Amino acid sequence: MAEILEGSKAMERALALLAAGELVAIPTETVYGLAGDATNGEAVARIFEAKGRPRFNPLIAHVASMAMAETIAEFDPMSRRLAEAFWPGPLTLVLPHRAGSGLHPLVTAGLGTIALRMPKGFGSELIAAFGRPLAAPSANSSGKISGTTAEAVDADLGRRIKLVVDGGPTQVGVESTIVKVENGALRLLRPGGVPAEEIEAVAGTKLLRNNDAGIEAPGMMLSHYAPGAAMRLNASAVEPGEALLGFGPKRADGAEGAVAFLNLSEAGSLREAAANLFTYMQALDRSGAKIIAVEPVPHEGLGEAINDRLSRAAAPRDSLDFEPK
Ligand code: TXA
Ligand code: MG
Repeated sequence: MAEILEGSKAMERALALLAAGELVAIPTETVYGLAGDATNGEAVARIFEAKGRPRFNPLIAHVASMAMAETIAEFDPMSRRLAEAFWPGPLTLVLPHRAGSGLHPLVTAGLGTIALRMPKGFGSELIAAFGRPLAAPSANSSGKISGTTAEAVDADLGRRIKLVVDGGPTQVGVESTIVKVENGALRLLRPGGVPAEEIEAVAGTKLLRNNDAGIEAPGMMLSHYAPGAAMRLNASAVEPGEALLGFGPKRADGAEGAVAFLNLSEAGSLREAAANLFTYMQALDRSGAKIIAVEPVPHEGLGEAINDRLSRAAAPRDSLDFEPK
């Protein structure tokens, strides 16, 4: 298992490992990230290796300042406005990649664009101290649920990395929202930690959705985030042998017979539900139930990202197009 450290000890050790081209799992406000020096090809290759991720899946480059972001990407006025409003925070912008940025080409997987994000907290401090951007996908093996605690990350990846920085459970609990300006319009590539409505309010325009021109965010593969158990969504009743993932104060019929039960948010708060989502899916998976029934979660605000992750987890496993089994 990996070494688990916090505070200044973690900072010191993380900086040394990153400088040596090694990987470090770090807390961000969304989920833990599996971070490596984005300018070092070997470090980036290690990320794909540790995750067992297909090479053509591009990574998010994490920055600590607008100045660092601008050495990497070209900002149009709309993207700049969104960065000013939401950074540091759970928003990722896909932008034209600037030539000579110093990023290793493996980060973008050959695309002409780069996904950029400025995280909150330890991640930002680490990047600022390191002085270079960090490539960091969610800290989980490919196709698995994203880690939201140091323990979950260690259990999944601990054998393949040296250090997990413990920042406690992540605040937001789902990955960042990904948007891209396209011909003056704004497209939602992945719902996430910033509700679409908040982005629309700042942008003054509606987000385009359902990119049918191919999968722009390959991490959006249908059966991503898959737990071992099958998932049955919008359950109004619990079948024998099922575990139950609840939401809100009202229970599905037969809930008392569930093999295991966890409530994403008793109070019906979507924010609390997002923060609990991955940990609770993992916990119910460990109950040994073959099926996890999930009560309906409203689709507004953060509910869009929650429902997106739930339906990916519920997708038939043979839709694992190019994720390794
Ligand atoms: O909250 C987050 O975003 C977390 C934390 C660690 O920052 N990171 C994360 O990274 O979720 P990852 O690699 O698991 O997901 C990144 C997503 C993938 O779906 C990837 O395909 C997409 O971003 N992506 C990266 N570069 C892209 C690009 N140039 N164009 C479109 N999508 C891109
Ligand atoms: Mg991921």
